[in-house]
Amino acid sequence: MNTHPLFQPCSIAGLSLKNRFVMAPMTRRRSPNGIPTDQVAEHYAKRAKGEIGLIISEGALIEHPLANSYGDVPYLKEEAIDAWRKVVSRVHDFDTPMFAQIWHTGPVARPGVSKEAVIEDGEEVVRAATEEDKKQLLELYSSAASVARRSGFDGIELHCAHGYLLDSFLRAGDTGYVVEVLRELRTQVGVEFPICLRFSTWKVGEFEANYIDSVQKLESILDPLCDAGIDIFHPSVRRFWVSPFGEEDDLGLAGWTRKISGKPTITVGNIGLVTSELTEEGPQSLAELQRRFDVGYFDLAALARPLITEPAWVSKAASEDYGAIQDFYPDAPKEVY
Ligand SMILES: Cc1cc2nc3c(=O)[nH]c(=O)nc-3n(C[C@H](O)[C@H](O)[C@H](O)COP(=O)(O)O)c2cc1C
Repeated sequence: MNTHPLFQPCSIAGLSLKNRFVMAPMTRRRSPNGIPTDQVAEHYAKRAKGEIGLIISEGALIEHPLANSYGDVPYLKEEAIDAWRKVVSRVHDFDTPMFAQIWHTGPVARPGVSKEAVIEDGEEVVRAATEEDKKQLLELYSSAASVARRSGFDGIELHCAHGYLLDSFLRAGDTGYVVEVLRELRTQVGVEFPICLRFSTWKVGEFEANYIDSVQKLESILDPLCDAGIDIFHPSVRRFWVSPFGEEDDLGLAGWTRKISGKPTITVGNIGLVTSELTEEGPQSLAELQRRFDVGYFDLAALARPLITEPAWVSKAASEDYGAIQDFYPDAPKEVY
């Protein structure tokens, strides 16, 4: 049995968690008409049964005409409340809290809307958000948060990562608009309801698109977000042990985020992706993850791909039954439910 604190109960942002492992958001594209099916509920229930401490839903869209880039993605809309209630209730059956990730795909959609226009082959395919757009988007983010709260979610995560809408504002240095969205969300959900914010070094299709190239830059992003009342930060990097600030830096993005903000922070990226590497010595080992926790670089650790093939990853890792863990393989997101 692994008795490390990562596998022990804890309390974060007013939530009681069975352990410090989180299911990272993963788009599943199995919600026709934007409404999650019973199969979606069972997908999350299986991971809750497998003893994950906290679940963050797949990106769920705000009800804006240009929000979507992919088919069958769920929306946080009035007509979906009953379906979301079922999802959350199945997860709660296992005493696992669940957050909704609030999403707008921004410059990834065609046509799209973004902080800045995108021109392709001489044609504007993504328009720059006008003041009118920004006002409408604020209202729609707020409505999505209201749907999340009324569906029974235990918190929300604002998706400001991976090249989508709110990431386009952060990357352009317009943290102010993200702060406006956060203030709107806080007004909507009240002071007790946890708000997590996800930002990233990488973008979809552009893994090297890091814009956070110094600790000072990170500070300039985090300080106003903290003032706006963030409860948890979720800085997204592809490998938890690789720092965007160079090889000499041990803290990494999560460590610096926690140090600067003083807020609970989630680390993520290639945790347990190859099970045989977990028990070996090396940067991607469980020992390294535990060391990073012990020195105070993060509070929670999120996994995405390993949970697709192994819903019981946490219970098996906790009981050190590594041989029973089903490793991720690239076609798994299409095949496994
Ligand atoms: C199939 C799939 C779908 C994803 N969808 C989302 C999403 O909806 N929102 C998000 O913020 N990240 C999304 N991600 C990124 C993951 O949350 C995570 O940051 C990334 O996969 C790295 O973690 P891992 O190494 O444990 O897989 C997705 C990743 C995968 C593999």
